[in-house]
Formats: sequence, C-alpha cells, structure tokens
Amino acid sequence: MRYVIQGRRRLEGQVRVSGAKNAVLPVMAATVLARRPCLLQDAPDLRDVAVMSEILRGLGARVRWVEYGGRRALEVDPSAISVTEVPDQLMQQMRSSIFLMGPILGRLGRVRISHPGGCAIGPRPIDLHLRGLEALGATIRERYGYIHAEANRLRGREVHLDFPSVGATENVMMAAVLADGVTIIRNAAKEPEIIDLQNFLNGMGARVKGAGLDAIRIEGVEHLEGAEHAVSPDRIETGTFMATAALVGGEIRIDNCIPEHLDAVIAKLRECGVTIREEVGRLQVTGSGRPLPVDVKTLPYPGFPTDMQPQFMVLACCARGTSVITETIFENRFKHVEELCRMGAQIKTEGRSAIVRGVECLSGAAVEATDLRNGAALVMAGLAAEGTTVVSGVTHIDRGYEKLELKLAQLGADIRRE
Ligand code: EPZ
Repeated sequence: MRYVIQGRRRLEGQVRVSGAKNAVLPVMAATVLARRPCLLQDAPDLRDVAVMSEILRGLGARVRWVEYGGRRALEVDPSAISVTEVPDQLMQQMRSSIFLMGPILGRLGRVRISHPGGCAIGPRPIDLHLRGLEALGATIRERYGYIHAEANRLRGREVHLDFPSVGATENVMMAAVLADGVTIIRNAAKEPEIIDLQNFLNGMGARVKGAGLDAIRIEGVEHLEGAEHAVSPDRIETGTFMATAALVGGEIRIDNCIPEHLDAVIAKLRECGVTIREEVGRLQVTGSGRPLPVDVKTLPYPGFPTDMQPQFMVLACCARGTSVITETIFENRFKHVEELCRMGAQIKTEGRSAIVRGVECLSGAAVEATDLRNGAALVMAGLAAEGTTVVSGVTHIDRGYEKLELKLAQLGADIRRE
C-alpha cells in the first residue's frame, strides 16, 4: 500500500478531525474494568482500534460498531471477560497494549502478556509500568519473553514515576481504580488523554481526581458500571493539518478540534509566520507556503509534543533560514531525516538535535514511512515537493490517521492510495 502525491498544490476548504488514537486506546483498555457495556462515541476507525478490538474480543468482550446520534460509535460489552492472556501476535502489532496489564490485573487478579519489545522510534522500555504495578502489590515475573503479574487484591499506595510516562500513568490509574484504598501517582503525565481517561473512569463510577496536574489521586471502589463517552478529537491530527497548511500555503478551517490542547504547537506556528484564528471547537489557519525558521524542543505536555516533531522537521526543511529540532522524549525519532534528504532537504543530526537549513523547494522521490508520524511528515513533504512523491509503508499511517488521503484531497491536495 502506498500514496502517490503530486506536490505544489495550495490547500483550501474545511476538514473535520477524528477522535484521538491516543485517547481511545486507553479508554478501550479501561472498559475491561467494567461489568456493563460501554459506548465510545466518535471513536476513530483506525488500524490500532481494530487491533485493540481484537484483543478485547480475545479476553471475552463483545466489540462492535454501532450508529449513535448520526455518528459511528464503538460498543464494548466487557461483562463476559474472563481470559487473562493477551495474544502474542496482537501484542506485537501494538506495543501500547502494555497498558492492558493494569485493568486485567485489577479486574481478574492475574495477567500474562508478551514483552512488547521496541519499535521504530526507540526501545520503548516498560520499567515504569512494572514498578508502578509492583508498588500496588502485584507480583511480577518476566521469563521466556512473557510478563506474568498476579495480585489477589491490589492495594492503594503512593507511586512516584521517574519520568511522566503517558502509558505508565494510564496503566497505574487503571490498576488503582478497583484497588483497596487510595493511590497517589506523583510526577504523572499531564497529556489531555490522561484527563480523558479520568473522565471515562469516573463515568463508570471510579473516584479519580487531579488528571492534568502533577499528582493524580485514585480512591479504590468495589466495582465499575458501564458508561457512555465521547472520544476527544485528535490534537496531533489537528496539528498535522495546521502544519500542512503552513507548509504548502492556503487557508483551511479545521472543525471538531480543541485549540487549547495545541498551545505549544500554535505558538510555534505563529513564530513561523502562520496566521491562526482560534474559535470554540474550530481553528482557521492561513499559511504563506514558505514558513520562517523556528527552533523546536520536544517535552512532556504541555511542552511541544514529540508526535509533532517529524511534521515540524518538514516545515523547517522549506523554511527561509536554519532551524534546530531537538527530540528529548524518544531515543530514535529521526528516521524521517534520511528520507527527507533524499527529497533534497539539508539536515545534519548531532545526537538528539537536527540542524535544518531551509531550501527553496523539495523534489519528489520514492520514500518509506517507518512509523505513523514520520509517515505523515513524508506525506507533507510530498505535498510541498516539485513533481511526484511515492510514500510506501502507508499501513503505518493508517494506525493513527483516519482516511488521511480523503481529507487531504477534500482540501485540494493531489494524493491517491494505490
Ligand atoms: C504515548 O506513548 C503515545 N502513545 C505516543 O504516541 C507518544 O509519543 C508518547 O505517549 C509521548 O507523548 C499512546 O498514547 C498510545 P511514554 P508511551 O511512556 O506511553 C520512556 C504516536 O505517534 N519510558 O510517555 O509509550 C520511553 O522510552 C505515539 O501516536 C521509560 O523509560 O510514551 C520514552 O522515551 C508514538 N520507561 C518516554 O518515556 C517506561 O516504563 C516517553 O514514553 C515507559 C516509558
């Protein structure tokens, strides 16, 4: 599967952002804790959602798409869940499934999951997940590539995360909601998806407070009921469309988004000379097509998001000057550099930093996506480049972008899937 793109087309029109991959996945994992069906409105139809649905079915849940209020919704009935093992081949497809440990352990008292291993952007260790679950009383054994965790009843404790890991915060939150007593998570991740998870858990009857702040307090309860939940719009998809309008030029309106989730990205785009009008649930973006250079350093939320780093690298490739892009979150998230250089970009990497000297125009080429965000960045580069660009590895992009080529074509881009 690949995208064929003819570059140098300005974007005009409106686009509606889908529900967030990184919000719906932990919420789907959290349904394991409930005894009654849950309805996830505006869930995005993504490859990762399909994988998580298969995992939940393997545990004994019933998962299906339904129509709700004129929009698609995912219905999960977890009442018959009894299996405590996550199938290896599904685990290998999506390493973030590691945050299923907390809810399975919390609901059934044991879990076996294969070690997630690394991926294209780094080794992706899970030490903070495991230490957090151990702090709540789980016994954890790792052998033959599997992780076994057991706990008759988890008990509330103070958990300090060495790093504000998004997944580890979510894992411990979900393990703590049925534990005996109060859990405090310190140095918790503050991403909007953590607040989304808190809202969903509380909708099911949990008692969670403080998501979005440094410390999250979870008071254990006896059981959780089902809940209805509207999945938050995807802030990274929103940022990707904003950066694309800045790169190729044009004027677009982005609907179903939450501007305040993108403060750091909006500030950087304004530094690039992009005009951005913020309204409730909507953004109006006007790009000139040749951004000003800008320095970017990725940080935990509310700092500049690592998931927008590849997209800003492409902006820097076409900027009127030199930019420095520094990646502090993942160990190896510069895979797009060599592909962009094949399109005529001038990039030099030194450790965690990339020095990018802007060029007048990139040239189309055949390039390879290795993860969903660098895939989106290569699509952006193709939209800006002279001539034809072929992006292979589109299955990576399908993990986190729903109907990307249709949304871009609707804005006037010349892109087709083959
Ligand atoms: C989540 O990954 C997102 N995925 C990522 O989005 C996102 O880039 C990341 O958070 C940071 O915002 C989902 O939500 C499904 P972390 P996660 O734990 O939870 C280190 C995308 O493109 N670490 O905050 O895995 C780790 O190595 C994806 O949508 C440990 O050392 O991120 C990394 O350097 C990519 N030990 C850093 O923390 C641990 O136990 C951030 O990881 C866990 C993490």
